[in-house]
Amino acid sequence: MSEILDARGCVISEVVQIVPLGIDVIDAAVTLWRDAGLLRPWNNPWEDARQAIACPSSAILGGYGAGRLIATAMVGYDGHRGWVYYLAVAKNYRRHGVGRLMMAACESWLMEREAVKIQLMVRFDNKDVARFYGRLGYANEEFLFFSKRLEQRS
Ligand SMILES: CC(C)(COP(=O)(O)OP(=O)(O)OC[C@H]1O[C@@H](n2cnc3c(N)ncnc32)[C@H](O)[C@@H]1OP(=O)(O)O)[C@@H](O)C(=O)NCCC(=O)NCCS
Repeated sequence: MSEILDARGCVISEVVQIVPLGIDVIDAAVTLWRDAGLLRPWNNPWEDARQAIACPSSAILGGYGAGRLIATAMVGYDGHRGWVYYLAVAKNYRRHGVGRLMMAACESWLMEREAVKIQLMVRFDNKDVARFYGRLGYANEEFLFFSKRLEQRS
């Protein structure tokens, strides 16, 4: 893996440690997601994180470099497919292989659960990231994507 550089371009570590995040690190993860432009007004990121950590079939993997949370990826298995959300690498650490490492960790997490496919959604306003996934061997499949908000019934 490429070395990890700090904001001034100094080498600070050659190792990123990837671990499942606990509830105590949610604030740091949300800060990372905000800086990476992943937050949307209709999603509550703290609640998203809390549920992903609490649910037995999902996790938020955190990448630590030099003791700092520098990357995240939320991964989950729905019993049929594996999904990835909230992939983010802190700006100062991009283009050094950390994103690739985080996706490899998601793939391993899913393979341990015998999932046979990993997939993710990319927003239309984030098309640049398609080249990243292409470099990792991901194909852009032709689907129409439908969704519906479910009202909470009390
Ligand atoms: C997308 C993101 C996670 C990539 O992280 P990263 O650590 O910079 O990626 P890597 O360094 O591991 O790059 C892996 C490969 O993709 C390429 N790549 C990375 N970002 C790229 C980009 N924006 N355009 C073209 N290629 C890119 C790298 O050159 C590298 O290619 P190579 O290994 O064949 O030389 C990071 O840019 C990010 O956090 N973006 C903002 C959040 C986001 O959009 N998340 C995805 C939501 S779907």
